Amino acid sequence: MQKKIVLSGSRPTGNIHLGNYFGAIENWVSLQDEYECNFFIADWHALTTGYADTLDLKKNTISLMADFLASGLDPKKSTLFLQSEVKQHAELYLLLSMNTPLSWLERCPTYKDQLANLKDRDITTYGFLGYPALQAADILIYRADFVPVGEDQIPHLEITREMARRFNFIYSQEVFPEPLPLLTRAKVLPGTDGRKMSKSYGNTIAFADTPDEVKKKVMSMITDPARIRKDDPGHPDICTVYAFHKVFNEEMVTEIEEQCKGGRIGCVACKRLLQEKIAVFHTPIYEKRQDLLKDEKHLLDIIRDGSNRASVKAEATMELVRDAVRIGI
Ligand code: TRP
Ligand code: SF4
Repeated sequence: MQKKIVLSGSRPTGNIHLGNYFGAIENWVSLQDEYECNFFIADWHALTTGYADTLDLKKNTISLMADFLASGLDPKKSTLFLQSEVKQHAELYLLLSMNTPLSWLERCPTYKDQLANLKDRDITTYGFLGYPALQAADILIYRADFVPVGEDQIPHLEITREMARRFNFIYSQEVFPEPLPLLTRAKVLPGTDGRKMSKSYGNTIAFADTPDEVKKKVMSMITDPARIRKDDPGHPDICTVYAFHKVFNEEMVTEIEEQCKGGRIGCVACKRLLQEKIAVFHTPIYEKRQDLLKDEKHLLDIIRDGSNRASVKAEATMELVRDAVRIGI
């Protein structure tokens, strides 16, 4: 039986951190056997907000591929590629833009959100408004069945489905299947300060961090502020360290909860337990990543090879698309 097609992407805007990993990448890794997976580095997407700041784009692209591979994405199983190396995405984006009503783009919740929030950049641009059409092209060009996304991306996927329907209707052909979200229960990890883990808050633990940096970050995590002495009863529910134990130390989590509430474990000891668990997970990935980055040529070869394979799939769809639109000779 033909495997169902999955597609998802990530912007090359910085190093993968534990929040990204548990929020998305871990899930991608687990889909690789069951689905025909396509995972890509969304460099054109990075330009929709970061067009003026491209100094690190190539470096970030290469290190994101290293992060992908170190996390367990496997180029033998999945097509791992770079968006800008598959020019068909741009061609489909152009054709979709011809029939995408402006109102669909303007009412997209993340569009309004980001216009209000990204005050330090001028994103009143055509490219930023058109971002959902670019994302739709990314998905539809592989005729994907499923897109593993977080809740926040559901509106984009809905626009993608509408675009697929509209295209099929206008050109009276079922060129694009309507992709469905693949929602999986992601593990939620806060940042080291208890807020959402995010590069802009400076509260991340990244695979690029050295084991020593990770240790320092763990040992300086925010705990229950009401605990001053070791025998004060603690409130694990409001403690960042405890939230991490739930992910990294499942077998001990009940015990830690009881000991914390009963004032029988100190925060320093509790952090040390956590730090050891995180190190067991983080250090091998860190080392694999360091190893991969020693051979940039090898990483570029993987990106090129994946992009070539993606281009073949994308071109097959574009032939259907050009036929349906009756464009070209
Ligand atoms: N929008 C995603 C991000 O900002 C990246 C992305 C681009 C994507 N195209 C996609 C994700 C298609 C899923 C499907 O990280
Ligand atoms: Fe948090 Fe552990 Fe301290 Fe309890 S003992 S407050 S769970 S760090």
